[in-house]
Order: sequence, then structure tokens, then C-alpha cells
Amino acid sequence: MRTLITWCALALAAVVSAAPAKECAHKVKESIPPPRLWVKERPAPKDLTIELRIALPQPNFFELERHLYEVSDPFHERYGQHLSKEEVEALVTPHPESIHSVNEWLASHGLTESALTRSPANDWVRVKVPISLAEKMLDTEYHVWRHTKDDNYIVRTTSYSLPENLHEHIDLVQPTTLFSTLRGMDTTFRFSQDTPAPLSADAPPINIPSASGGKVDASCNTTITISCIQQLYNAVGFKPSGKNGNQIGITGYLEQFANIADLQSFYADQRPDALNSSFKFISVKGGLNNQSIEEAGAEANLDVQFAFGLTHPIPGTFYSTAGRPPFKPDVLTPTNTNEPYTDWLDFVLSHPNPPQSISTSYADDEQTVPESFAKRACNGFAQLGARGVSLMFSSGDGGVGDGDSDPATQQCFTNDGRNKTQFVPLFPPACPFVTSVGGTVHVPETAVFFSGGGFSNLVGVYILSFVSQFLNKLPKGTYAGLFNPKGRAIPDVAAQADFFRIFLSGRIISIGGTSAASPTFAGIVALLNDARLSKKLPSLGFLNPLLYAIGANFPKGFNDITIGNNPGCGTPGFNATKGWDPVTGLGTPNFGVLKDIVTGPLARF
Ligand SMILES: *[C@@H]1O[C@H](CO)[C@@H](O)[C@H](O)[C@H]1NC(C)=O
Ligand SMILES: *[C@@H]1O[C@H](CO)[C@@H](O)[C@H](O)[C@H]1NC(C)=O
Ligand SMILES: *[C@@H]1O[C@H](CO)[C@@H](O)[C@H](O)[C@H]1NC(C)=O
Ligand SMILES: *[C@@H]1O[C@H](CO)[C@@H](O)[C@H](O)[C@H]1NC(C)=O
Ligand SMILES: *[C@@H]1O[C@H](CO)[C@@H](O)[C@H](O)[C@H]1NC(C)=O
Repeated sequence: MRTLITWCALALAAVVSAAPAKECAHKVKESIPPPRLWVKERPAPKDLTIELRIALPQPNFFELERHLYEVSDPFHERYGQHLSKEEVEALVTPHPESIHSVNEWLASHGLTESALTRSPANDWVRVKVPISLAEKMLDTEYHVWRHTKDDNYIVRTTSYSLPENLHEHIDLVQPTTLFSTLRGMDTTFRFSQDTPAPLSADAPPINIPSASGGKVDASCNTTITISCIQQLYNAVGFKPSGKNGNQIGITGYLEQFANIADLQSFYADQRPDALNSSFKFISVKGGLNNQSIEEAGAEANLDVQFAFGLTHPIPGTFYSTAGRPPFKPDVLTPTNTNEPYTDWLDFVLSHPNPPQSISTSYADDEQTVPESFAKRACNGFAQLGARGVSLMFSSGDGGVGDGDSDPATQQCFTNDGRNKTQFVPLFPPACPFVTSVGGTVHVPETAVFFSGGGFSNLVGVYILSFVSQFLNKLPKGTYAGLFNPKGRAIPDVAAQADFFRIFLSGRIISIGGTSAASPTFAGIVALLNDARLSKKLPSLGFLNPLLYAIGANFPKGFNDITIGNNPGCGTPGFNATKGWDPVTGLGTPNFGVLKDIVTGPLARF
């Protein structure tokens, strides 16, 4: 790596004295216009503690990316040769000079090693400081901001600075410009008496040629159970080993707890052979696990019941990550919180054997996540992929964008101060290193109207041929200016996403959202991994290159969804079409076909 010594660093070096190191003048590192719908209320309390999270550059990330694509490309000779934790860390570690410069800067503010927490690769440093010190370090002023719609509060700034000599040694500092909108993707929620009446028990099964036995119970049209998923996705009769090292994980945020009593009721209802089994609970940064049945979370219960119900006896893990990004200034919160994905990433990256299939049903509007931060979080997901972990994310519940809640306009605006109308994709599903899962409904399957889809402002190369096939069919000028046709396209795949029958606080409810689709798809991936691990084949890891290769070569691996659209932002959204589309991606999985592809001679392509 080239060593760049700025005039200022030279000037500092020339000051040969025992005097404390002087800093270069501060220069703005990042600045954003006031984010839409947030208003500045008052200066932040000076003694409020925040945890600064500092990202040091990863000068060899392009190397990690090369390894990632090689070991994830089924046509490559290195397919499946995932990297070890140590190999990945070596590829994202910062230059020693960056570590040294940042250490000096922190020390000049009285922050020495014992105050710091470092990621395993040393590419992130965290330190708790009072607002007064953060303001000095970043030459900024923090304020309490209020969201005008939901009255949430957050402590942030729209601009921060760093000494000029540090600009090349620090990618970003948060919390500063990140006005996050993290939310669960469990959009529809009804008590089961509000769901459409199930067809009578003796209604004839629905003919679905790709399903197990070519038929699916009629009841699955309006009530999704574990058995429905097994039938529809051709997985009836597959018995995972559960003892070959395979695991599945579910992440939980926003103080959502998966209730064990509800899980047992669910098992009694839908998976009696799993009764008495449970999952491993892991607390990340003090994430709670309140098992009081009233505290059960709809999102967490849905994710856990379907992911673990589909994959029993594969060992399951539920991660509860602390932090509710909207900060409540009236509550005595000891520390303000950061974007929790990175807390979870730090944690899971530090573990030698994370689950090989992990589902997350939470996301932010991409435009509320500064690109600097999105890139670094996305790079973290790439590290897990290189280690053989498949990451599934719900694609979103607002179609091409949630829009304003004013039903008259339903417009979607950019967050950059220009009030430009634009579709709003979600992050992390927009990260090219994760698998984004959209939604379907009914049997035979059609796209569900809320299925998040569209085009990100991040880049994702491997799907371009599919995307151009779609875009070429789109009438010229369709939604011109509303989306970035060169961006990473969302979603990659889909699964059922409505009328899921689960237990919540002791009651049966029917729930939907791409929140249902992601753990379902992750469950199918865990079953595929189980079949592979039993044959001593490596886990599937970063899935997308494989999924698109299957889409191109073995179209029967997915059930193509061609009916439906995903309205949003006051438009009808995109249409589900033959082939890939920005509503349901490649389609829903056919486990039986996929298993033969990933375990049979076809595995070599
Ligand atoms: C499934 O339910 C939908 C919506 O209620 C209905 O339009 C459709 O006809 C049903 N399909 C079958 C096969 O019964
Ligand atoms: C679960 O535990 C109960 C009580 O210990 C027992 O009666 C039952 O057989 C167990 N069920 C299974 C499937 O292991
Ligand atoms: C946890 O559950 C108990 C009841 O068991 C309740 O009183 C308490 O408020 C809950 N704690 C949190 C942090 O939600
Ligand atoms: C954007 O819209 C908000 C209200 O939603 C308005 O207050 C603001 O002036 C607008 N800004 C521009 C640049 O049009
Ligand atoms: C979706 O399909 C309808 C009906 O064929 C058509 O009128 C509409 O233009 C299509 N929309 C897009 C965005 O392709």
C-alpha cells in the first residue's frame, strides 16, 4: 500500500518535542442535508454517553471480494473452498499506519487501549464517550432530532469533521449521519378469525405439478403451515440429519423476543415430532430475552417458528441484538445506540462456527443509510459469505417503496433535500452480498402486492444479464428517473409471505410480510446445506452466483412467478414476468430439484 504523508503529517513530525501531539486542522468528512421528516429539537445533553464506532479502511477488500466470487461461483474450480475466520480477517485488516494514526488521535483525547473495543480484524474501533468529547473530536454539534411522523427521537448530527491527516485512515464515524429507520417486515397481522375462511377440509387438493406428489392441500391457499411449505416447495419426506454440523440462525432486533412456550404450542400444532426441542439463545451486546408470554414478539415468533419448524432437528440459534435505534430522550438510557447490524456482525464474525444459513427480517430505507455505512456493513456480510454463510434478508413490505402515509399522494421522496420523487429500496436487501427474498401468496402462487423490489443505488454485477432481459421487455421510458436501472436489483428469490399460522402470546394468529418469506427460504437453504454436509460437501455460502447459475441452467430449480405486481409510491410498481423480475426475483424454490443440483453430479455444473 502506498504511504501518503500529507503536508500536515510532515508538519506534525517536524514538531520534535515532548508536547502533546497536535492535530491537523479539521476538515469535513461527511455532510448530509437535513434528512426528510426529521426536525432538530435541541442540542444533545453534553453528558449523554454515545458509543462511537470508527471504521478503518480495508485496503485489501477487493482481494476478499475476488476470493468470495471464486468460492461462490459454481463454475469455478475453487467453488465451496471457503475461507477460514483468520484468512478473512487478514484480508480486511487495516494498514498498520491507519491503526497507529487512529490510536494517536484517540490517545490525544485521553482514550487509550483499555477504553477501546476492537473487531477481530481491527477494522472497527468502538469507544464510549460523552457527547461533549465526541463534539470536540469530530468538530461538530449533536442535536436531539424528532421524527415528525412517529415521534421517535434520535441523537445525531448532519455533518462531522476529522483532522485532515486522518481522512485516509478512517472510512466513517457513527453515530453521526445515520438517521436509521430499522423496522421489521411483518406488515400484515390479523387474528385468525379475520383471515379468509379456510376451504372445507374435504376440498380437493390443488394441482401443482412442481409440488411434492403434484398436489397441495386446498387449505394452503389461505393458511400457510409447515406442511404447506413442505408440499409446495417439494420437500415432503426429507429428513435432515441435524447432527452433521449444520445450523440455522435467526436474528432479532428492536427488543423482539422469541417465546419458547409459543414455540411449543406451534410445534404441538404443526410439528409434533419437534415438541420439547428448543433453540440456542444468544444475547448480542446485552440483547434481552424476556420470556414473559406478553412480551413475545410477532416478528421474532414468526421467524423462529417457521425457520426452526421447517428444519427440525437442525440446531437453531436466535440472536437478540440490543438497541432500539430511535433514542428516547425522556428515558434514562445509559448509551445511545448505533445501527445494530454492525453490532451483530462484530459478534458473529468473532465466532469460529456461525450458522451456515441466517435470516433477517429487518431493514432500513436505503436512503437513510449513508453510502459509507452501507458499504461497510455490506462488506461485513461479504466476510460471512466468504466463510460459507448464506444470508437471507426480507426484501421489504412496501412494494417499490413505502411512500408517504398520506393516502392522497402516496409519493416517495428522496432524502437528500431535493424532495425528488423516487422509488425507495431497502438496505440490507440492497447489499449485493446477501440474498434478498420477496413474497408470494396463494396456491397456485402469485406475487404478493407488498413484495419489496426494485433497484438499489449499490452495484451488483452478477445479475446484470437477468436484469437486462427484464428491462429490455419493459416499455421504453417506464418509470424513467424513478429507479436506477444500473443498480443491484431486488429481490433475488421469493417464498410464501402471507397467511402464516403462528402462535403469539398463546393465541393463534395469521401473519404476513416478507418477514415470513425470508425465514422460509433460509429454512430451505438449511435443508440443502444439510443434504450437502451429509455428503461431506461444503455449505453453500454466498448464494447469489449459484442461484443465478441455476436460474440460467436449471429453470426447474425455481417456480417462476408471472402474476402480480408490487405497487408503491403511488404507482402500480413492477410486474411479475417470465424469468427474473423485481417483484419475485427468480421465483420460489423447488427443494427436490435444488437438492439434486447441489448434491448430485450436477453439482459440478
Ligand atoms: C385461492 O384464494 C384466492 C383468494 O381468496 C382465490 O381467488 C383463488 O381462487 C383460490 N384458489 C383456489 C385454487 O382455490
Ligand atoms: C415432551 O415432553 C413431555 C413431558 O416430559 C413428554 O410427555 C412427551 O413425550 C415429549 N414429547 C416429545 C416429542 O419428545
Ligand atoms: C420482562 O417480563 C416481566 C414479567 O415477567 C416484566 O415485569 C418486565 O417488565 C419485563 N421486562 C422488560 C425489560 O420488558
Ligand atoms: C420538501 O418538502 C418539505 C415538506 O415535506 C418542505 O418543507 C420542504 O421545503 C421541501 N423542500 C424542497 C427543497 O422542496
Ligand atoms: C404491467 O402489466 C400491465 C398489464 O399487462 C401493463 O398495462 C403495465 O404497463 C405493466 N407495467 C409495467 C411497469 O410493466
